[in-house]
Amino acid sequence: MSNIIWIDVAAHDDVPEDDVIGVDAGGRDVALYSVQGELYATDNLCTHGHARLCDGFLEDFEIECPLHQGRFDVRNGKAMCAPLAEDVRTYPVKREGDRVLVGLADA
Ligand code: FES
Repeated sequence: MSNIIWIDVAAHDDVPEDDVIGVDAGGRDVALYSVQGELYATDNLCTHGHARLCDGFLEDFEIECPLHQGRFDVRNGKAMCAPLAEDVRTYPVKREGDRVLVGLADA
């Protein structure tokens, strides 16, 4: 069984509303989103190629990859359109006071 390790990645004020930033979660490149007051996290690297999703365009719950405009749903990582064939990994997120923590599985 794996446990969740919570990594402090940012101050809540560092994540602009309805925007995305890239953060380092224990050496892992993670994209952190704020949408309609909720926080979400996915792998930052697109599953299609070498592009960082934090450089993409966030509209509602969908992040558009900057390279070939593939779109993922940030709530569940689902690949929404071509050329994406693979979902992106998601991570649990929580707030503790002013800090934002991302949960990584301790496999
Ligand atoms: S690298 Fe993201 S859609 Fe191609």
